[in-house]
Amino acid sequence: MERERRFGYTELPERTMSETMGKRVAVIGAGPSGLAQLRAFQSAKAGGAEIPEIVCYEKQDDWGGLWNYTWRTGTDEFGEPVHCSMYRYLWSNGPKEGLEFADYSFEAHFGKQIASYPPREVLFDYIEGRVKKAGVRDWIRFRTPVRRVDFDDSTGLFAVTAHDLANDVESTESFDHVVVATGHFSTPNVPHFDGLDRFNGRVLHAHDFRDAVEFKDKDILIIGTSYSAEDIGSQCWKYGCKSVTVSHRTAAMGYDWPDNWKEVPLLQKVEGNTCTFKDGSTADVDAIILCTGYLHHFPFMAPELCLKTANRLAAADLYKGVVWVDNPKLFYLGMQDQWYTFNMFDGQAWYVRDVIMDRIEVPDREARAADVADREAREDAIEDDYGAIRYQGDYVKELIAETDYPSFDVDGANEAFFQWKKHKKQNIMTFRDNCYRSVMTGSMAPVHHTPWVEAMDDSMASYLLNE
Ligand SMILES: Cc1cc2nc3c(=O)[nH]c(=O)nc-3n(C[C@H](O)[C@H](O)[C@H](O)COP(=O)(O)OP(=O)(O)OC[C@H]3O[C@@H](n4cnc5c(N)ncnc54)[C@H](O)[C@@H]3O)c2cc1C
Ligand SMILES: NC(=O)c1ccc[n+]([C@@H]2O[C@H](COP(=O)([O-])OP(=O)(O)OC[C@H]3O[C@@H](n4cnc5c(N)ncnc54)[C@H](OP(=O)(O)O)[C@@H]3O)[C@@H](O)[C@H]2O)c1
Repeated sequence: MERERRFGYTELPERTMSETMGKRVAVIGAGPSGLAQLRAFQSAKAGGAEIPEIVCYEKQDDWGGLWNYTWRTGTDEFGEPVHCSMYRYLWSNGPKEGLEFADYSFEAHFGKQIASYPPREVLFDYIEGRVKKAGVRDWIRFRTPVRRVDFDDSTGLFAVTAHDLANDVESTESFDHVVVATGHFSTPNVPHFDGLDRFNGRVLHAHDFRDAVEFKDKDILIIGTSYSAEDIGSQCWKYGCKSVTVSHRTAAMGYDWPDNWKEVPLLQKVEGNTCTFKDGSTADVDAIILCTGYLHHFPFMAPELCLKTANRLAAADLYKGVVWVDNPKLFYLGMQDQWYTFNMFDGQAWYVRDVIMDRIEVPDREARAADVADREAREDAIEDDYGAIRYQGDYVKELIAETDYPSFDVDGANEAFFQWKKHKKQNIMTFRDNCYRSVMTGSMAPVHHTPWVEAMDDSMASYLLNE
């Protein structure tokens, strides 16, 4: 301990050498992906298998990843970048029937079927319910961000350096495998627009958006056309902003928006409060919200281990979407753009577990790289969102076919996504009032007691009433 205080690090503990006690696995992040990894190992253990020692490092003081809401923005009480990109009143933007765990249904968790677009608190409770039951919390070192991951060719081991924030101690341990599950919707992509530095209102990125009420009676400009743009604009509209202007780089979203909502081409310049767009039109606004996406950002990974990819369905350099092509002892979970989420992370986690436990053999580097190229080419040939949903559904099928993750009707889950897209097209402000059938239990979700536009209380207690 004295050495730790003076030098801020410990030497690699001898006991970590794999010949003495079997494999050690570091899981970085306890969000839905990292928790899926813990649950995968725990389920193997419950089935009687001998599993490696698992150490999960988590930067925050609780599990749940992005679903672990905080009011904080910027840096936290330890000076760490705040991970949370979620906000108050956030409801699922896709039907829960597309993300349901195959080994833990919503009905099993809540004791009844619930409506299809749960608010954040409800989904947090669901995520937490499964891992509480699995009893894996002790595997997690909370408030312990990983600072550095290196690989030593001569020993075949990773050195993972982490910072125990509460005790202010940095230490390094060695592992046979590393699973990176730190998410990729937390580090904002922040483009510059001419005149932003002289804008008279508030400029923020979606990552720092917390409460739509702040924008009541305000004219807001949103840059971007994806889910954050659509949902943050809709939130602000629902909670009483005066007008929404959405500026696009590639194409307008094209929904049938309310009267005080318009779509315009890309922002060119800002002068005072006046924004000028590519078609020469202007708008005077009080706030500009950059819904311009996120960066895959892993500053703690040694350069040769660091994933660099666009936000796409076939993430770069990952065999089967999870195995690092250049070193198959390293894995990344959940790095794809996401139609499927929780059950896809499960498929990935079960697959990674079985590679680590030598139940699945990984082919040589050439074959791994060819697999990535094939996934990229197939993604590039996709024609529309329906094709993209089928593509990711096929990926989920591929993963679960190779493991003992409970099989489920992925085509049925695809169908829920197809219906969701149609419902959005019909009415962007009422799509969350629809309900879908669970492919895990076969039961139909009830209609929620209050239409989304009128439901101002997003608490779990309110959502679960009368169902
Ligand atoms: C605003 C928003 C809304 C969303 N809404 C939905 C939705 O409605 N439905 C849906 O299915 N998906 C939604 N998503 C997608 C979301 O990506 C997934 O649901 C899910 O949270 C991804 O899980 P993850 O574990 O991969 O990453 P995350 O949830 O980001 O978790 C990563 C974890 O890693 C930890 N971590 C990061 N760096 C370190 C480090 N260096 N050391 C240790 N720990 C670290 C973080 O603290 C965090 O706990 C949304 C995303 C955003 C941004
Ligand atoms: N309620 C919810 O559940 C909810 C709410 C919000 C977000 N989310 C989730 O959060 C994740 C991230 O979504 P996201 O919308 O933040 O990111 P995203 O899907 O990556 O979209 C990024 C957007 O930013 C635009 N953009 C990027 N750089 C730009 C630039 N320089 N100038 C102008 N526009 C630029 C892109 O435009 P181009 O099309 O031109 O590239 C795109 O529209 C998704 O998984 C989503 O499902 C969920």
